[in-house]
Amino acid sequence: MRRTIVLILLLPIVSFSQDLVTNTTNRNTTSLNGTWHYIIDPYETGYYNYRYQPYDQFDKNNHSAFYNNYHTDDKLELVEYDFDKSPTLLVPGDWNSQNEKLLYYEGTIWYKKSFNYQISNPSNRLFLYFGAVNYKAEVYLNGHKLGTHIGGFTPFNFEITTIIKPKDNYLVVKVDNKRAKEAVPTINTDWWNYGGITRDVKLIEEPSTFIQDYKIQLKKGHNASITGFIKLNNVLKEENVILSIPELNIQKTILVNNNNSVDFEITAKNIQYWSPKSPKLYAVSIKTDYQILEDQIGFRIITTNGPQILLNDKPIFLKGISIHEENPMRAARAFNETDALVLLNWAKELGCNYVRLAHYPHNEHIVKLADKIGMMVWEEIPVYWTIDFKNENTLNNAKNQLTEAITRDKNRACIIIWSMANETPLSDARNEFLMALVNRTKSLDNTRLISAALETHHNDGVNIVNDKMGEYLDIVAFNQYTGWYGGSLENAPNAKWSIKYNKPVVISEFGGGALQGLHGTINERWTEEYQEYLYQQNLKMIEKIPNISGISPWILADFRSPKRLLPNIQDGWNRKGLISNNGIKKKAFYTLQAFFKKIEKEYD
Ligand code: GCU
Repeated sequence: MRRTIVLILLLPIVSFSQDLVTNTTNRNTTSLNGTWHYIIDPYETGYYNYRYQPYDQFDKNNHSAFYNNYHTDDKLELVEYDFDKSPTLLVPGDWNSQNEKLLYYEGTIWYKKSFNYQISNPSNRLFLYFGAVNYKAEVYLNGHKLGTHIGGFTPFNFEITTIIKPKDNYLVVKVDNKRAKEAVPTINTDWWNYGGITRDVKLIEEPSTFIQDYKIQLKKGHNASITGFIKLNNVLKEENVILSIPELNIQKTILVNNNNSVDFEITAKNIQYWSPKSPKLYAVSIKTDYQILEDQIGFRIITTNGPQILLNDKPIFLKGISIHEENPMRAARAFNETDALVLLNWAKELGCNYVRLAHYPHNEHIVKLADKIGMMVWEEIPVYWTIDFKNENTLNNAKNQLTEAITRDKNRACIIIWSMANETPLSDARNEFLMALVNRTKSLDNTRLISAALETHHNDGVNIVNDKMGEYLDIVAFNQYTGWYGGSLENAPNAKWSIKYNKPVVISEFGGGALQGLHGTINERWTEEYQEYLYQQNLKMIEKIPNISGISPWILADFRSPKRLLPNIQDGWNRKGLISNNGIKKKAFYTLQAFFKKIEKEYD
């Protein structure tokens, strides 16, 4: 008896969700967004019995288990929760910004949604899809445990064909955003730990044999060869799949047999390559005997050649800015196209052709919008600061988040860089951990560049970048905070840099804080003048850094951080934004805008 218990306890660290259904936007879906009832449960009373044993493992049908959503008319029976009499939260959305009481709340909140659903064709199948839930989600439908997902920034789904009822379904999600040392991210981050069902929830109805996933991109280093795979779910006989890209006169029949997935390669002529200046997306359709799935896909080549980054074989400079997934004006997690438009329109106004979506995969709306408007993207997983690099489960967790992010976004031309990590301390365990992620990335997608935000160190007045990981990354990117966390602004333009690798260099972060509207001299921290001067001096320095091919200063807009506590200046906000949390531009915004105008001329 004792051995079995140990085994079960170990397993929950890695996600139990099933293979991801991709391109959900163009499928037959029903949204479950809206108001959900919720119960705050810091002691996890609805999950553990008083012997601290999980009900869903020890006493599945116990009425006290919140996932049973138990009701009774029996006035004698003891029931100590009632979702329908409990308050509501909006989904998608973090809970912290929706209720003052929850601003700092970290722990378990139970969500419940009741709904009716009639499957339109008895042979069809039904899936429940979450865009993201921060951090650990345990999902139950009609009292059945569907599974667990770990990781707050990537999608997951469960098949519910056999559990769904035409009427009175109750979906219960236990969401726990407690931070933990072995988690990804770990216990310490400089962003708000927004909890909740933070992205769209939808039902997806599919034929019994359906198109699960596909990759359609230009072959690495080839400008006329479109390759990829088509993956069907539940292939019972050989299936004809027709891949069409009408504008490229492509109509290819691909036979998928019972190993479900087949690779293909097609030669294409006269491709109009995707780029920020002309973000051409082609209408693509995949047709089987049972469904047609459409998508909008761009084709571009992103490579490096020594110190240069080449887009469609032409050198480019990444005129970027870093962005957190937050709408500052709502002081909340961003989750829809409106939020994405606010953030990317600001980046466009700055003159950007590139954004670093920090430090975790952002929602699909902003990635799709970047594809449409022509904004190149750096996408990152939250392997941030002091991750538990020696912990096997932590590695599996990170690999899983990476896999889900790449699976979701691999057909987006705008994504040019997969980032493995941010500011992780040097050690052999760290290098092994990051190398495992680099290898996983290459196995899933070898058509994009791989990088990570590395750190610098100083010796004898020289800034040095010789992180071992630089050897394995396509782009040497690092964060440097000259004039804020150290180093003199005055001397910055003459700063010495020693960078070990003859690869493109990207400054993934630099910057300093300013309270919008606070004015003074260039020597007074927190004034707009100080931040403006910091940008002027850093940009002069950066222009001289060998192999410089791009920047993404920290950061587009002020963002909430529980680590920023200076009264009347920070008050829970990191003030390094070029735009305040009220959407007002600071002086440094225009400094960077002018710099990008100048660069534009040089690269035209
Ligand atoms: C770090 C880190 C950011 C952080 C920033 C800052 O470099 O990567 O997440 O917010 O610096 O200190 O403001």
